[in-house]
Amino acid sequence: MSDLILETQDLHKVYEGHSAGRVEVLRGVNFQVSREGVYYILGHSGTGKSTLLHLLGGLDRPSQGDVIFDGRSFDSMNESELAAFRNQEVGFIFQFYYLLPELNLLENVMLPGMIAKDPNAKSRALDLLDHVGLSKRLKHRPSQLSGGEQQRAAIARALINEPQVVLCDEPTGNLDEENAKNVYDLIESLNREKGQTFCIVTHEESFVKGRPNVYRLSMGQLNKES
Ligand SMILES: Nc1ncnc2c1ncn2[C@@H]1O[C@H](COP(=O)(O)OP(=O)(O)O)[C@@H](O)[C@H]1O
Ligand SMILES: [Mg+2]
Repeated sequence: MSDLILETQDLHKVYEGHSAGRVEVLRGVNFQVSREGVYYILGHSGTGKSTLLHLLGGLDRPSQGDVIFDGRSFDSMNESELAAFRNQEVGFIFQFYYLLPELNLLENVMLPGMIAKDPNAKSRALDLLDHVGLSKRLKHRPSQLSGGEQQRAAIARALINEPQVVLCDEPTGNLDEENAKNVYDLIESLNREKGQTFCIVTHEESFVKGRPNVYRLSMGQLNKES
């Protein structure tokens, strides 16, 4: 088994038909992600961080180049293969938690497991909600929770299908400093306990300072900082 879980090969992304004309966002990104690592990606607004995460997770297709995920080329998969792969192997965490307002927390966390027809979805959701410190909030609706609690629920939901890789797009962008720190501590402890690989786009420069596997996206290129 290769140590690499995720690799991009000369990844390019060009948006056509943009109001600014043709926008070349990624210009040959070569990124190698080892199993069970935590990777941080920094970069100014508009540099293509979300674009890169979407390509890594198979939510969008590159203009050129390929993504190799656990030895499988996204380029070789059709849309339905890619969708099935995504549901099983990738977890997503976004800045805006996207919990469904009419479902309670337990139901929100179970949902991707039920879509995957996993008979253990409920027991796993209970375990994950316990892990993220929300076992006393199972029947609460998202609107009855703080931002930090909603993001912790979204993290539990992202892990329900035991994905190999979890992609996080500015997961603390809406949280105050204390809650942001709690979310990063939680991610790092989940990484240690459950072995999932995390790729995290963040603005928290001071938090990532000195950590291994910090990258910066600039001018369409991804470079390692530390
Ligand atoms: N679907 C799209 N169509 C056209 N342009 C896009 C699209 N998505 C993003 N862009 C442009 O690509 C650039 C990078 O966007 P994005 O990846 O969201 O950056 P970041 O997440 O680093 O802020 C921006 O200039 C943005 O306007
Ligand atoms: Mg973004």
